[in-house]
Amino acid sequence: MTQQSTFLVLGATGGTGKHFVSQALGDGHRVRALVRTPEKLAAGAKNLEIWQGSITDIIDTDALVAGVDFVVSMLGDVKLQRDAKINTAFVQKLVPSMRRRGVKRFLYQAGGLSRPYQGRLTPLLWAIRNTLVRGYNGQHEDNEAVMEYLATEANDIDWIVHRAGIGSDGPTKGVLQRSKTKFSVATHRDCAAYNYRTIMDASAFHTSDFSYYSAT
Ligand SMILES: NC(=O)c1ccc[n+]([C@@H]2O[C@H](COP(=O)([O-])OP(=O)(O)OC[C@H]3O[C@@H](n4cnc5c(N)ncnc54)[C@H](OP(=O)(O)O)[C@@H]3O)[C@@H](O)[C@H]2O)c1
Repeated sequence: MTQQSTFLVLGATGGTGKHFVSQALGDGHRVRALVRTPEKLAAGAKNLEIWQGSITDIIDTDALVAGVDFVVSMLGDVKLQRDAKINTAFVQKLVPSMRRRGVKRFLYQAGGLSRPYQGRLTPLLWAIRNTLVRGYNGQHEDNEAVMEYLATEANDIDWIVHRAGIGSDGPTKGVLQRSKTKFSVATHRDCAAYNYRTIMDASAFHTSDFSYYSAT
């Protein structure tokens, strides 16, 4: 990306989001971030515009997306998502605002254990979801409702879902590639780099794919 763009980043203080913000700012782009706790971001960083708030607040989403080129969501709150589909409710407000403001491009990071709309998980992934990481079921159900909404009501938007596998916040393990079948347990940093690249990739529009390290 040579020309300066503006990214609206949701989840900018999170494991994936913080790397995404660093990369976008490092490349000279502008970032608008909606965050609950602004202190978690570097105060006064050049090209960083901070909006304080929660996606569960009443937010002027038309103003939030105004002037933005790309919207990237790396949101998650496991506790809240146990009882409520907070991401879905927010995306359902965000997408109409994107339409009104002429913003077309949206990348949403879900989980590798979240089922794509009308798709299925392999028996192994399904078993892992229902045993080892059972506590994340609410988050997966929320992600699945987002995917259903995008696929059934938002195909006029260039949306992309990244069904990420994340194991740590460690250093890079390589470059993630998109795949319908192959899945790696990646680092936050590599997922952020993947999101940053993939939002530019028109071949990824209307997909809900995994990511994997091609060398592993
Ligand atoms: N972590 C994993 O192992 C994993 C694996 C695969 C896929 N994923 C998917 O990727 C998504 C992001 O993962 P991550 O590990 O980067 O998440 P994370 O570290 O938990 O970060 C989540 C981000 O969402 C923000 N957020 C949560 N609730 C919010 C609200 N009500 N309003 C505004 N911001 C809010 C958090 O802000 P605060 O700083 O204020 O909390 C934080 O910036 C997850 O939701 C999941 O769907 C995660």
